[in-house]
Amino acid sequence: MAPRSSRDRSRRGTVSLSDSRCRTAILISGSGSNLQSVVDRVASRELALDIATVFSNCADAYGLTRAADAGIHTCCIEHSAYADRESFDQAPADELDQHPPDLLLLAGFMRILSPWFVDHYAGRILNIHPALLPAYPGLNTHQRVLDAGEKWHGSTVHFVTDELDGGPRVLQGRLAVDPGESAEQLARRVQAVEHQIYPEAANWFAEGRLKLRDGTARLDDEILAKPVMIDFK
Ligand code: GRF
Repeated sequence: MAPRSSRDRSRRGTVSLSDSRCRTAILISGSGSNLQSVVDRVASRELALDIATVFSNCADAYGLTRAADAGIHTCCIEHSAYADRESFDQAPADELDQHPPDLLLLAGFMRILSPWFVDHYAGRILNIHPALLPAYPGLNTHQRVLDAGEKWHGSTVHFVTDELDGGPRVLQGRLAVDPGESAEQLARRVQAVEHQIYPEAANWFAEGRLKLRDGTARLDDEILAKPVMIDFK
């Protein structure tokens, strides 16, 4: 069976100001609220990047609608039609590499990437994870944080390596857990933090301030022995 694909849903243009800016692809699987936070800040000219394309592995991802509404090129290739991880990962890479991206932002992209894909874009992939890594990698972080009675929670932007949620950390947003709040309430507060920190870290990369060198994240040529931490209320 041919892979289900809905390429080129929108070709109305990119959120683009100049060819020399950081060419960015955003990969999503769902709602795309983090995508929206980047789109909004590019539109208001706060970020030194252009969003060249938004890619989804899920045809019903609302983020595709957000991107199309913003006039951004979108591409969807569903993973379910591919035999294995490697053969699926080749499909978005083929699409993206028509105009190779300088930066890939994983924004709720619910796929584990194959080592081949990570190597192909080495040093160019950032992810945002809803926890203060290295604590709470994986799924269902908000409930796990509540169940453990943690005082602090938040979100982490990190470079992507072969280790799931384990690449060098760049920026964290931290908040105090409110006694008695639900996982849904906590998730909403963490997402508000994410919408601040992900555009910020993406902009560091776009400005050439943030790099991955020899397996280490560097900001303004200083090794980030630990991530930059911002406290939120
Ligand atoms: C975010 O919480 C992010 O940390 C995680 O997936 C979620 C995506 O949310 N990786 P959205 O699709 O950006 O609203």
